[in-house]
Amino acid sequence: MLRILSVAALLAVGATALAAQNLDVIKARKEILKGFGAAAKDPGAMLKGEAKFDIAKVQAALKTFQAGAAKLPDLFPADSKTGGETEALPVIWEKKQDVVDRFKKLASESKAAEAKITDEIAFQEVWPKLLGDNCSGCHKIYRKPK
Ligand code: HEC
Repeated sequence: MLRILSVAALLAVGATALAAQNLDVIKARKEILKGFGAAAKDPGAMLKGEAKFDIAKVQAALKTFQAGAAKLPDLFPADSKTGGETEALPVIWEKKQDVVDRFKKLASESKAAEAKITDEIAFQEVWPKLLGDNCSGCHKIYRKPK
């Protein structure tokens, strides 16, 4: 009896540790993605003519996307499908390679955009396509709709 109890106790501890680990990784990816949203906010306002064009902010956002996209592929382990108010859809784990490739593409296209965006005209042309293809393109398939 005592032995069964201690095994149950050990299992309970193990399950708690696992859940805690999931929550950490979910929190970490959400923080990075929240940072993407924050970085995209001012350029979004610039695009609509609601803020003055500021190339430094645009270039900083492109760096944020590259740095985050390098970390994100490791932040969707199989034990992080649920919990922590995740908006990740289960299909991510059926098409994991596509998700990884999309983060790589976001990084490389953000890098390319750094060189392309030399003025406001180029920004108006490059920015919406970068975000539409990469951010919205992925959210449509892999993130819970609002
Ligand atoms: C390869 C897929 C993919 C790409 C590319 C991507 N996202 Fe996401 N994004 C997700 C997923 C999946 C979630 C939900 C994560 C979760 O809740 O666990 C998400 C969540 C978010 C969130 C909500 C974060 C929170 O919980 O507060 C924001 C904001 C966001 N993304 C912005 C962006 C922006 C801006 C870009 C482009 C620069 C981008 N994302 C590119 C897949 C992607």
